[in-house]
Amino acid sequence: MKTEDKVSGPVSSRRSGPLSGDVHVPGDKSMSHRSLILGGLAIGTTEVEGLLEGEDVLCTAEAMRQMGATIVRQDDGTWQVTGVGVGGLSEPDGVLEMGNSGTAARLLMGLVASAPFNSFFAGDASLHKRPMKRVATPLSKMGATITSRSGDRFPLCVTGRDLMPIEYELPVASAQVKSCVLLAGLDTPGITTVIEPKPTRDHTENMLRHFGAAVSVEEREDGGRVISLQGQQELRAAKVVVPGDPSSAAFLATAAAIIPGSDVTIRNVGLNPLRDGIFQTLGDMGADIEILDVRTEAGEQVGDMRVKGGLLKGIEVPPARAISMIDEYPVLFVAAAYAAGTTTMLGLEELRVKESDRIAVMAEGLKACGVKLEEKEDGLIIHGNALPPKGGATVKTELDHRIAMSFLVLGMGSEEPVTVDDGSVMETSFPGFTQLMNSLGAKIA
Ligand code: S3P
Repeated sequence: MKTEDKVSGPVSSRRSGPLSGDVHVPGDKSMSHRSLILGGLAIGTTEVEGLLEGEDVLCTAEAMRQMGATIVRQDDGTWQVTGVGVGGLSEPDGVLEMGNSGTAARLLMGLVASAPFNSFFAGDASLHKRPMKRVATPLSKMGATITSRSGDRFPLCVTGRDLMPIEYELPVASAQVKSCVLLAGLDTPGITTVIEPKPTRDHTENMLRHFGAAVSVEEREDGGRVISLQGQQELRAAKVVVPGDPSSAAFLATAAAIIPGSDVTIRNVGLNPLRDGIFQTLGDMGADIEILDVRTEAGEQVGDMRVKGGLLKGIEVPPARAISMIDEYPVLFVAAAYAAGTTTMLGLEELRVKESDRIAVMAEGLKACGVKLEEKEDGLIIHGNALPPKGGATVKTELDHRIAMSFLVLGMGSEEPVTVDDGSVMETSFPGFTQLMNSLGAKIA
């Protein structure tokens, strides 16, 4: 995207006509981070097609460069990553700047834990509030030293050394923690094992295998998974095709679903079964969503999605589904505000420690837009009445890209326009959000 297209300052959306069009969304954020990290370690040159060029992913690219990987964007938009080999990272000259990205922070902390140097990490005000104990604990058990502010928060330093493999059962269902431990296990002798009582997104395992690592995944009878990685094996460069991010597609799908008469097709959306909860849930609420041409690319399921507008109904969202749609609750809250009846969304404690406290920030903004709701410690109960919300508020985004985009979707159907105080945060995960939405008929300025 050209610099002059970048959004800064307040952004408003107002009631928009039916949305229509046939579009792609930017690449998957989770897979983009991983392609740069594993490509940056592998022997040879990895070509990445469809990389998300959002600020979060660019932080990972820069950090990998600081540790010796060669990462170059080609004129055709593909990226070439030449790795240093497992165990070949070099000591970064400066601080590793993680910006807003919890994923970059937690995955790279794991990666450097086995490297024989100090890595200093910092980020923005949002990242400095987020809990890092969840990764510091397993890394310390493996032998690394984490020196941080009180509460194990950023900024912090990881002192890496030769590690011991561990068997670690995740106390919180988190793909970031799982990935952190597996990446620490890459240059550790023996077998590193992560046990997850509830399966989380499996892009790290899938991509490690794609790069030739020996990873085994055992499905337990109780639904849990045991993931084991043989350490100190070289990775081989492999082409990665990154599908469209389902978390970004969710904003378009919700906007199309709540605006009557809309008909939008989103091509090449990642449909990993551990990520697709939002589409099931919108379907349960009565949204007209059709998934077309499902196929497998680079070990991941992808498909095209056609969404038509109509009236949604309130439902009780199964808490067990939360892991497969954890990033999509802010926009689901918006869908619930347009639905007929009550939508109950509980079991969401983790939302309080995302880029912002997404339960509190969404509750405050929704109330300011005239939405009736009850805030619980672990979620929201939203009472829709089948009419568009009033809108007419300016909402604080609190350095949270998904808060910004969710309220812009809300304003696309509300009686009065909705303003978010800082549109620049959308660059984190969805560069070009405004232009893409406007190309479908939205009125965002
Ligand atoms: C991510 C995992 C999730 C998600 C985040 C991306 C990843 O975080 O919210 O946006 O790429 O592994 P948790 O692991 O904290 O649940």
